[in-house]
Amino acid sequence: MTTATLEPRRTSRGLKRWARRLLGGAAALALLAAGGIWLKAEAALHRHWPAGPAELAVAPAPALVPEGERLFRAFGCHDCHQDAGRVLFEARGVGRLVAPNLTRSLPGFTDADLVRAVRQGIRPDGTSLVVMPTGALDEISDRDLAAILAYLRTVPPRPDAVSGGTDWGPLGRVAIAAGAIPFSAAAAEAGVARPERPAPEGAYLARTICAGCHDLDLPRDDGLGFVAPALRDVAPAYSADGFRHLLRTGAPLDGRDLGPMKEAALGALSHLTDPEIDALYGYLTEAPE
Ligand code: HEC
Ligand code: HEC
Repeated sequence: MTTATLEPRRTSRGLKRWARRLLGGAAALALLAAGGIWLKAEAALHRHWPAGPAELAVAPAPALVPEGERLFRAFGCHDCHQDAGRVLFEARGVGRLVAPNLTRSLPGFTDADLVRAVRQGIRPDGTSLVVMPTGALDEISDRDLAAILAYLRTVPPRPDAVSGGTDWGPLGRVAIAAGAIPFSAAAAEAGVARPERPAPEGAYLARTICAGCHDLDLPRDDGLGFVAPALRDVAPAYSADGFRHLLRTGAPLDGRDLGPMKEAALGALSHLTDPEIDALYGYLTEAPE
């Protein structure tokens, strides 16, 4: 054989080897990147947060149960957890986000565990919950939280409880590694607890309830296509009666469908009392100090 017939074969073999090496390199890089993402997500999911103080100045007493049931709804707990738990999100490859059935969780939670879940966004094992809006719930007063705990302890277990918990697939882990899933423990501010509701009550309710979606002075994009306007920009357009109507029905002045605001109004906000709504209105329409 001459070199002329050998040459192309050698070249193509060389090319193939080169291509194999290149592809191998790219696959190794992709694997490394995927491994890096996986490790980053694992680290976030398994991170242990230091447990803060969990004593309540007010004991969860039976006399608080009816108020606790109302507050479990008014603070939005029921909108997410419902009675039997709720799958908030589920998609192949991404995973499943569950607001668990609390009657199933409660036997394993001490009162301090419950306080830490709500105020700090951490589980009894020290890892963080996700999505639960601890940045707003962490300011709930000791009395209000004691009432919610007292109520929760009276709820019988549900036979129809949603089973299984939150579980992340590969795409969900990419989202976690990219910081796109809010970790509740990161949003909580330790040490803001107060025995009673601080004055003014309107400010307290805005910080613990509306703040799950709204800021006072800046619009907030929920990343899902809705922008919750700055409360101080929109509330003054309403009369006191119109504001009550908005919070009770979700119906705005111009009749638009307000999406998540309507759901909140028909759910959590429908459990606010008239004096609470008026306190909110007063706070949101007065000039800031
Ligand atoms: C926006 C929805 C939302 C709201 C509002 C909310 N939660 Fe949650 N909650 C969740 C989700 C989601 C989880 C589970 C998160 C996870 O799996 O990481 C959770 C977890 C918990 C847990 C831990 C349960 C367990 O078995 O690990 C407790 C306790 C809890 N919530 C109580 C409350 C209480 C009390 C309130 C009201 C003061 C409340 N939640 C408001 C979404 C919510
Ligand atoms: C679950 C999230 C959520 C909660 C909780 C929530 N809001 Fe909203 N709210 C929204 C969104 C989103 C909009 C904007 C809807 C739109 O324009 O399509 C909105 C709009 C509004 C508006 C403007 C209505 C208009 O005329 O356009 C007011 C006023 C308002 N909210 C007040 C409140 C107050 C007060 C609270 C607490 C008591 C509250 N909201 C709690 C999500 C929420």
